[in-house]
Amino acid sequence: MRFTIAIDGPAAAGKGTISKAVAAHYGFAHLDTGLLYRAVGRKTLDGTQAVAAAEALTPEDLEASDLRTPQVAQAASKVAAIPEVRAALTDFQRAFARRSGGAVLDGRDIGTVICPSAEAKLFVTASAEVRAERRFKELMAGGHDTGFETVLKDVKERDARDMNRADAPLKPAEDAVLIDTSSLGIDEAIAAAIAAIDARRTA
Ligand code: CDP
Repeated sequence: MRFTIAIDGPAAAGKGTISKAVAAHYGFAHLDTGLLYRAVGRKTLDGTQAVAAAEALTPEDLEASDLRTPQVAQAASKVAAIPEVRAALTDFQRAFARRSGGAVLDGRDIGTVICPSAEAKLFVTASAEVRAERRFKELMAGGHDTGFETVLKDVKERDARDMNRADAPLKPAEDAVLIDTSSLGIDEAIAAAIAAIDARRTA
């Protein structure tokens, strides 16, 4: 059985939480594609050239402990604008999407570029303030000392860069179901995602 669920959306929209829950619900494998770009971005902070880093990426690179920092997120969105970096990561993502047993991929361009024929597509969003508030709490809970305004600035900067790049810009696929989680709790957002996917599974 092959069934691909594409979950895209702007920074800190809750794609990770929803994707993990959706994958567990259906028993599908999950790939956080943001981690690929974060791992490449992190290598550039050590001085490695972005395209070379993307071409040589290994599973161990995805295990680095500091991939969730705002510095790495910024570096990720910079390397993500380089077409050769995106190209180097495409085959891996496409193969993951079509693995047997079903797959959930979350990112920015899954429903538009990586897997335009995905059986179910969601575009998860929320206001920039709500997203920044959630990310701020997450970072503080993880021991990162930061401020709300700093996080808001990061979120807005990355969104602008991700939406305005020429190659695979962040935007909803025409056939994506939009889920605005601004006023939804985690359980409500997960339930909305599962309801939208179930509608595609039985269609
Ligand atoms: O968790 P958060 O939403 O903050 O970010 P992420 O999903 O880990 O993605 C980090 C950065 O990688 C994004 O700002 C994008 O620039 C880039 N990215 C992308 O271009 N395409 C993807 N499919 C996933 C991430």
